[in-house]
Amino acid sequence: MRMILVGPPGAGKGTQAASLVDSYRITHISSGDMLRAAVKEGTKLGNEADGYMKGGKLVPDEVVIGMILERIKKPDCEQGFMLDGFPRTRPQAEALDKAMTEVGVKLDAVVLIEVPDAMLEERAVGRRSDPETGKIYHLKYNPPPKDIEGRLVHRKDDTAEAVKTRVTKYHSETAPIVPFYEEKGILKRVDGNAKPDEVTQRIAAVLNS
Ligand code: AP5
Repeated sequence: MRMILVGPPGAGKGTQAASLVDSYRITHISSGDMLRAAVKEGTKLGNEADGYMKGGKLVPDEVVIGMILERIKKPDCEQGFMLDGFPRTRPQAEALDKAMTEVGVKLDAVVLIEVPDAMLEERAVGRRSDPETGKIYHLKYNPPPKDIEGRLVHRKDDTAEAVKTRVTKYHSETAPIVPFYEEKGILKRVDGNAKPDEVTQRIAAVLNS
C-alpha cells in the first residue's frame, strides 16, 4: 500500500500514522520529522529549513521534494509507505506523481483527515512529544505518564501564533492538492473530530472499502 495522510496542522496525522503503519506493514515517512531531525543535526538542509519552520511557514518546494523523492527510493519503502506531511503544495503533488509514474508505481489512497479550524490550536499547543519513543501526547486529550514528563518536548512551532500561520498556509497552499487527488479518484475523506481510536477505525474502514 502506498498512501498519503493529508490534513491541517494538529489534525492527527502523526497520531494516526503511528497506529496504522504496523497493521499495513508499511514505512511511515513524516516530512516534518525528517526536517526536525535535520535541524537538530545542524545539516545544511536543516539550517535552511529552521527559519521557515519556527514561524510556521512552508519550507521551499525544491528543498522538500528532493528529500522525499530520495527517501521513497530506499529499500524499506518497497513494500509500501505512508507519507505524512508531504505533499503539501501542488508542485510537490505533481513532482511525486511524476516520480512514481517514472518507476511504474501508483498511489493507492490519499486520506484527508478533516478537523474544524477551531480545534487545531488547542490540539497543537497542548502537544508534547517523547524524543525517546517518538510517541505523541496531549496534555488534556492523551496525557503522558508522570515519570516521563521531564523529557517531553514542546515543538517550537506549537505556539498559538505559529499555529495560526500554519493553518492559513494549509488553506492557501495545501488544500489545493485535494482536488488533484479527487480527480484521480483516490481521495478518501475522514472526519477526524472524534477520539483517536475511533478515527483509526474510520481510516481503516475507508482503506478497506
Ligand atoms: P509537520 O511536522 O508535518 O506538522 P503539521 O502538518 O503542521 O502537522 P502536525 O505534526 O502539527 O500535526 P498532526 O496532524 O501530525 O497531529 P498530531 O497527530 O501530532 O510540519 C511542520 C513544519 O515542517 C511545517 O510547518 C513546515 O515548516 C515544514 N514542513 C513539513 N513538511 C513540509 C512540506 N512537505 N513542505 C514544506 N514544508 C514542510 O496531533 C496533534 C495533537 O493533537 C497531539 O497532541 C495529539 O495527541 C492530539 N490529537 C491527535 N488526534 C486527536 C484526537 N482525535 N482527539 C484529540 N486530540 C488528538
